[in-house]
Amino acid sequence: AEIAKYVVPLPIPPAMPPTSSGRGPADRYVIGARQIRRQVLPPGSPATTVWGYGPPAHHSLFNSPACTLEARVDRPVQVAWVNELIDRDGRYLPHLLPVDPTVHWANPPGGRTGRDSRPTFATTPRRYQGPVPIITHLHGGHNADYSDGYPTAWYLPAARNIPSGYASEGSKYADFAAAYTHRHGTVWSPGAAEFYYGNRQRPTTMWFHDHALGITRLSVYAGLVGFYLLRGGPDDLPAYVLPGPAPAAGDPQSTVYYEIPIAIQDRSFAVDGSVFYPESREQFDKFAGPYIPASDVPPIWNPEFFGAAMTVNGRTWPYLRVEPRRYRFRLLNACNARFLNLKIVTRPQARRPVAAALPFWQIGSEGGFLPAPVRLDHVLLAPAERADVLVDFTGIPDDTELYLINEGPDSPFQGRPDTPPADPATTGQVMKFVLKPLAAKDLTVPADQLTLPPFTPLGPASTTREVALIEEDSAVLHGVGPTSVLLGTVHGGPKARMWSDPITENPAVGSTEVWEIHNFTADAHPIHIHEVFFQVINRQPFRGTARPPEPWESGFKDTVIAYPQQITRIKATFDRAGLFVWHCHMLEHEDNEMMRPYRIGP
Ligand code: C2O
Ligand code: CU
Repeated sequence: AEIAKYVVPLPIPPAMPPTSSGRGPADRYVIGARQIRRQVLPPGSPATTVWGYGPPAHHSLFNSPACTLEARVDRPVQVAWVNELIDRDGRYLPHLLPVDPTVHWANPPGGRTGRDSRPTFATTPRRYQGPVPIITHLHGGHNADYSDGYPTAWYLPAARNIPSGYASEGSKYADFAAAYTHRHGTVWSPGAAEFYYGNRQRPTTMWFHDHALGITRLSVYAGLVGFYLLRGGPDDLPAYVLPGPAPAAGDPQSTVYYEIPIAIQDRSFAVDGSVFYPESREQFDKFAGPYIPASDVPPIWNPEFFGAAMTVNGRTWPYLRVEPRRYRFRLLNACNARFLNLKIVTRPQARRPVAAALPFWQIGSEGGFLPAPVRLDHVLLAPAERADVLVDFTGIPDDTELYLINEGPDSPFQGRPDTPPADPATTGQVMKFVLKPLAAKDLTVPADQLTLPPFTPLGPASTTREVALIEEDSAVLHGVGPTSVLLGTVHGGPKARMWSDPITENPAVGSTEVWEIHNFTADAHPIHIHEVFFQVINRQPFRGTARPPEPWESGFKDTVIAYPQQITRIKATFDRAGLFVWHCHMLEHEDNEMMRPYRIGP
């Protein structure tokens, strides 16, 4: 069945209600993760069971994406993240999607994660049906390691039917809990982790999502995502300069939003409305397209997931009524694996490429404002990348329709010349804008006259470190399967390293390093380093000369596209001691060994 497009308005997530704010040293939140039913498909279609975050006292505010966490620079936020993946009787709920027990994953029955706890392809049941571990990462946060959401610092819900022999927490959970208790005098309760976000960083668009080892692709796809917007401080602009933000939660009267976070996620649905994630490559072929040959992978894991429908803020192909004035959109690519190349056009379905009808003015990326606004006909976003953009609808007549389309590739073979583009009839479309009358004069500053806050580049680097993206036969990992992608080292010949191998990246506290990311694979990969923001220095084909970063990569970033057969150079200051991770943000890659721990300091 075809999904009707542009029949529902774009939902705009309200602000997350705090449990206490204004007084005390921090704003406090309790945020649960629950299984909920929401209308994702158009009205008339069945509702969809998804996972969402929300304030436990208000079940109706649970959603995917979640209510937006609104934070101020230098004002700490404390969040108790509660695993509420339980039913009404307090019994745990199994994962909404098929868990592949043969990848290296959190694995509660095994208790402690490590190389030895990996079940083998031959001996494991096809599916894990036990309670679900979660651990939430604030992506873009600059926090202590015990509040970062380390992939093995997971914990189960406090359910009453957890089978004996199950570990209720991951190996790092206890360490981090101890560190947290020690430093903040707070006790972690069963089924919850309390994290501390200092917000001592540049204001920017962050997002939070689940990061449990080996099931991140499933839990994010199920819906555990939300925005975290940090504002204020010397690196922000006065509020009146830019189009304004959403009103606080609990103000249903207000319909005036000129600053809108937009999370784009591709998904596939079964006819009963349920979210579909393939259990095998054959299934993937049937649902998602013709690009991948028949199954040759471990039971469930797929090398990449590409959905057949686009959801924006949790609805398929919504529309947004806009006034003829300036808007600020906080764009997030929340897809598992799909790269997006966004453009605003007058007709949704035309032969690609088409001319842009309106430009984007990009003013920020993952690490806050760019040095200056950049005018763009298209916005390229790899998974996890964010673009803070202004779009000026001024002077456009009432009822005009404009479309946000996606000209990105529709296959895993990013960066290859023969990459098929997104289908103009489906994944090539994202959302629609419809002009309505102007409500009040637009007093914000036009993008071409805008001066962004002063930008201080990083100082010189003391160390250059070579790291590698490597393809390896899955036989090595699973005893069966096709090529897998891993991270590794370059020195002395490219060498792939597993998640459980000893740490190879160990920057000194306070040091500035250049990382040269050598991509030996055939695909482009979005590489994310936790804890730091980096500058992109350049990209250099293995046989060729270096070229500077793209104009929209001139600010600070936390995720960068590393193209195949190229060296991507980035520079960061590693200023906070602790144990973190760096990984590919194509979630299927991340979940199957394209992630490594790294340590800052001793
Ligand atoms: Cu958005 Cu390590 O993740
Ligand atoms: Cu990758």
